[in-house]
Formats: sequence, C-alpha cells, structure tokens
Amino acid sequence: MMKTDITNRHDIHLLVSVFYQKLLADESISYLFTDVAKIKLEEHLDVLVDFWETILLNTGSYQKNVMALHLKLHQQSPLQPHHFKTWLSFFHASVNELFDGPNAEMARQRATGIATVMQIKIAELKKDEI
Ligand code: HEM
Repeated sequence: MMKTDITNRHDIHLLVSVFYQKLLADESISYLFTDVAKIKLEEHLDVLVDFWETILLNTGSYQKNVMALHLKLHQQSPLQPHHFKTWLSFFHASVNELFDGPNAEMARQRATGIATVMQIKIAELKKDEI
C-alpha cells in the first residue's frame, strides 16, 4: 500500500501508539515509563500527540518544557546512551512503517535533533557533579 504523509492528529496518534507499543515491549527501556515515571498510557499519548502536532502541524497545543522534564527523569533514573539509541530506532522504525513525505522526514529529523540536545544537556549535568 502507498504510504502517505503525516497530516492530522489522527495520524500522529497512530504514530505515537505504534511507537509506544515498541518501547513498552522492550524491557531495557520500558521500566522508565512504567516503574520510574509511572505514566498513564492514554493520557501520556495525548500529551505526545500535542507535542508532535505542535512541531509538525504548528498547532501550539504543547506548551511545557520537554527538556527540563527529561533532565528531572534522568536524576530519578539515569538516561544512558543505549536508551537514546533504542528510543530513536523505535521512533524512526514507527515513522517508516506508517508514513512517507516531508512531515515524516521532519519528524525523524526533529526527534534526532531533540535527542541529541537532551544527551548534551545530560552530559553537562555530569560535568557539574565533578
Ligand atoms: C532516552 C530517551 C527517552 C526516554 C527514556 C524518555 C522517557 C520519557 C518518560 C518516562 C516520559 C514520562 C515523564 C513523566 O510523565 O513524568 C517522557 C515524556 C515525554 N517525552 Fe520522552 N523520553 C526520551 C526521549 C524523548 C525525546 C527525544 C523526545 C522528543 C523528541 C521526547 C518527548 C517526550 C514528550 C513530549 C513527553 C511528554 C512530556 C510532558 O508530559 O509534558 N522524549 N519521556
């Protein structure tokens, strides 16, 4: 079947649902969601939809500080390079399975960019600990 681009909230909900099925099935990363942050899945997915809608479709529905939230998470339980590799590979795989087009490409690029900045900020926290 021909893949189409990410164009609306429904597409993004499908993307984050498929992505979280992969994340939550992998024990090397799922504990951060289930045991550390103790997410409520449906509510969490709605927030993720707001986030990606704001990035890809310019809705402005996500207003929080995603970076600060992950630095806080890292202080509860370390986010390691292997977590970022796993997170990004599942994200990219989910986009590629479902969609193709400029917004699909933008989703992959922004995820990679944000993950890179997160890792740099985490490394900066480590410097302060010395
Ligand atoms: C090592 C990689 C990552 C892990 C393990 C991870 C884990 C988590 C967890 C456990 C939460 C729930 C936090 C809470 O509700 O207290 C969360 C929230 C979130 N994550 Fe990540 N994350 C990672 C990378 C990323 C990246 C790269 C992005 C963006 C491209 C991202 C976007 C979000 C968003 C939008 C939320 C919702 C924040 C909110 O409630 O306002 N995450 N993440």
